[in-house]
Amino acid sequence: MADLGELSEKLAGIKQEITVELTKLDNSKAVFEYRKSIMDSKTGKIGSLMREMGKIPNELKSEYGKKVNEIRGWATAEFDALEVKFKEQEMQRRYESEKIDVTLPSKKLTRGNLHPTTQVRNQIVDIFGSMGFAIYEGNEIEKDYYNFTALNIPQDHPARDMQDTFYLSPEFLLRTQTSSGQIHVMEAQQPPIKIISPGKVFRSDDDATHSPMFSQMEGLVVDKGITLCDLQGMLDVFVQKIFGEDTKTRLRPSYFPFTEPSVEVDVSCFQCKGCGCKLCKGTGWIEVLGAGVVNNTVLEGCGIDSNVYSGLAFGIGIERIAMLKYGINNIKLLFESDLRVLDQIDD
Ligand code: PHE
Repeated sequence: MADLGELSEKLAGIKQEITVELTKLDNSKAVFEYRKSIMDSKTGKIGSLMREMGKIPNELKSEYGKKVNEIRGWATAEFDALEVKFKEQEMQRRYESEKIDVTLPSKKLTRGNLHPTTQVRNQIVDIFGSMGFAIYEGNEIEKDYYNFTALNIPQDHPARDMQDTFYLSPEFLLRTQTSSGQIHVMEAQQPPIKIISPGKVFRSDDDATHSPMFSQMEGLVVDKGITLCDLQGMLDVFVQKIFGEDTKTRLRPSYFPFTEPSVEVDVSCFQCKGCGCKLCKGTGWIEVLGAGVVNNTVLEGCGIDSNVYSGLAFGIGIERIAMLKYGINNIKLLFESDLRVLDQIDD
């Protein structure tokens, strides 16, 4: 290469080619890749020019170097400018597509809560737990003996009827009351006894206030000198904690074969404070549970000396308390799992 005319031509060709190629590119990544291919020191059209230096006569070397640097500078500036242009455009596009409207309302976070029946059961367990009651969990499948006979419910009692009771066999049934647990506890243990027994019970019964399966909480205290006054004292604490400080109890004579005397326990209406309203049917009182002094026959049947010991027992309907407390007028609402209802009750 006697002069650099040939080189000048070659460089002009490269420039021309690059100029055309650049118009075909439309993003920064393509510019980056193209720049790499042009500037590659082995294969690139500009990058490899310096490797030719060895073949250039000494007197032309400096001129050659100058020209190569010139085109390298030109190409670098072209690539830079185009890359910057595309990067700005790309950034702008990203801003547009990822724009966040911070004034939009946020997604509602849903939080679960315990079922109202569970909430009430836990509250009752806590209340009696604080009075020193232990928990006895009985069996849902019972022998006829524990559910009826031992509770002084004779063979021909109407409660045993197929209409009321789900019998599994002549001997076994789904318990109709948690009172069956009383017998198991008294058979297993001598007084002092102080237990509550929460659990499911089953009766062939189905209307707005009755369900074939519902929950009860049995209470049983057996010791020396236990009277009806102890019962009322404990129940007073219970209803005040559940329905409010100023709630009172009233005992009405009733009948259960396993308690003597037996009572129905009413609470003063916590809605109208006794003035009379729809909830208390104008009477100022609401019936909440059955209770009584444990029948001596039942104590003796379990091997407890009724001359030494006496007992009290009560049976609370858990759904009934939940319905009263939360103003639920149909027991089915507690079995339907409708979140529109259940979400409203979170004590
Ligand atoms: N077991 C009775 C019922 O289901 C309630 C009760 C329990 C009554 C304990 C007195 C004593 O109706």
